[in-house]
Amino acid sequence: MKGLDLVEDLRKRKETLFTHPTPLERMKNISSLTGVEIFIKREDLIGCGFGGNKIRKMEYLIEDIKNKGADTVLTWGGIQSNWCRAMSSICRIFGIEPYLILFKRKNLPDDLGGNVLLENFSGAKISIVEGEGKKLIKLDDIWEIVSENLQNLEKMGRKTYLAPIGASIPEGSMEVSWGGIAYLDCFYELMEQCDTLGIEPDWIVHATGSGSTQAGLIAGSKLMGVKTKILGISVSETKVKFEEIVRFILENIQNYIQVNLEIKDEEIKIVDDYIGDGYGIVSRELVNSIKIVAEKEGIFLDPVYTGKAMVGLLDLINKGFFKKNEKIIFMHTGGLPALFSYKEKLEEFLKEQR
Ligand SMILES: Cc1ncc(COP(=O)(O)O)c(C=O)c1O
Repeated sequence: MKGLDLVEDLRKRKETLFTHPTPLERMKNISSLTGVEIFIKREDLIGCGFGGNKIRKMEYLIEDIKNKGADTVLTWGGIQSNWCRAMSSICRIFGIEPYLILFKRKNLPDDLGGNVLLENFSGAKISIVEGEGKKLIKLDDIWEIVSENLQNLEKMGRKTYLAPIGASIPEGSMEVSWGGIAYLDCFYELMEQCDTLGIEPDWIVHATGSGSTQAGLIAGSKLMGVKTKILGISVSETKVKFEEIVRFILENIQNYIQVNLEIKDEEIKIVDDYIGDGYGIVSRELVNSIKIVAEKEGIFLDPVYTGKAMVGLLDLINKGFFKKNEKIIFMHTGGLPALFSYKEKLEEFLKEQR
């Protein structure tokens, strides 16, 4: 089996962790404010493990973890990693022990609330690592620390699955980008909803962090042969770096589904103008975008991913990037537990507006 048939089969066989589809709603007030038709796909409302795109990815990854007979999962991320929170809550449901390595980063909140609080509720084993003199830990050092932890777990007799961040780049114990496959599946789900609503979206706009949400959506759009373009707003890396990562994940997805989607360079669309002062760094524009959506729609965005993607979407609309009458779907990919850990930084800018 391959291509469309394989995807249909995977969709039927996957581990269902939440009620599908997640809602797709029109952003009525934001649409009239901006003069552009905007819809929102509420991945944040996924009703398990506090929701978000990472839980959707787990519907596929958990199968791989179980199939490989693991009793333990080792993964890592920043202190407020949504990935680590999703991993700990889903692993627990299946009786698998989650081990998390959380890296502190200079200038980012390091309180142990938000996602860390939830991980503690899920009974995850957590080790917190800080770079010397609070410096950013280099990638090579991260791998060294992760490998040491893996060896220790194996010495303890634990059958450990090493899960890469965001189930995006196939590495560690993961050979297939299950995050990408999950978002290929999500694209199908979205098209079914669009059919019901009688709309043909021109764009899907979302935050890009580890790349598989974007790669999966692009693969979905190509495989279904529809006109929808996918625009990733980078929250961390340069456009060039993300083009490389997304392309790499796309190669892996195409190998898995055994279809050459013939993806052209211009079909991997990434904008890196909205990273601001860096990953997770809060700005006035970010606070404004969270506030506008809260006030106009009663929907809350997170400060690291969806808030920044909304800064990008609103600015691109202002600059006339989208054509008149184009329809846009904004993916709310979740991340809300971190909102509360950013309280102090967010308050600084919120105060200016009172
Ligand atoms: C809330 C949230 N939105 C978006 C993203 C980006 O998705 P991806 O990692 O698939 O690029 C992430 C993680 O990186 C996330 O936690």
